[in-house]
Amino acid sequence: MSKIILIGFMGSGKTTIGNELSEKSKFALVDTDKYIEQQQQTTISEIFASKGEEEFRLMETKALKELLEASEDMIISTGGGLVIKQENRELLKNAGTTVYLKASADTIYDRVKDDTKRPLLQCEDPKLKIISLMEQRKDYYTDAANIVVDTDKKSVEEIACEILSKIK
Ligand code: S3P
Repeated sequence: MSKIILIGFMGSGKTTIGNELSEKSKFALVDTDKYIEQQQQTTISEIFASKGEEEFRLMETKALKELLEASEDMIISTGGGLVIKQENRELLKNAGTTVYLKASADTIYDRVKDDTKRPLLQCEDPKLKIISLMEQRKDYYTDAANIVVDTDKKSVEEIACEILSKIK
């Protein structure tokens, strides 16, 4: 049983890189947000609006545990805030291969500035919010990861190959 787990800030490329890795490895790509949306039959934005972030974080831990317990090989793309909880960081560290996709605040902002589906960034100054959340979380990503990959100015292909070469 083999799992590659992608962690990193919103907009760090987890889904894009996950798709590329899935093609190369033939492992299925599973996304914790999509898994939660399927289970709850609603969107992440709606969960934040109706139940609040706290409740969403509980759903995230449950989703992570269920996916890690699954017997299939898979690539797991995780929500950017999953590392906030120590319990999740422990799970990630011991899960197999956890890859932190590192990106600068400028890169992240460029990628997410027109996005309306990320509730935490629907605020007056999303750039400032990105900088402040990144500051709070950066050590958590490093702590939970077995492999760190700098993604700024690299192509999807380059990043995927770098990850696979570091795993082998
Ligand atoms: C969040 C990241 C989102 C999603 C939710 C909260 C976060 O996932 O889980 O909006 O706290 O950083 P992505 O990283 O896939 O955007």
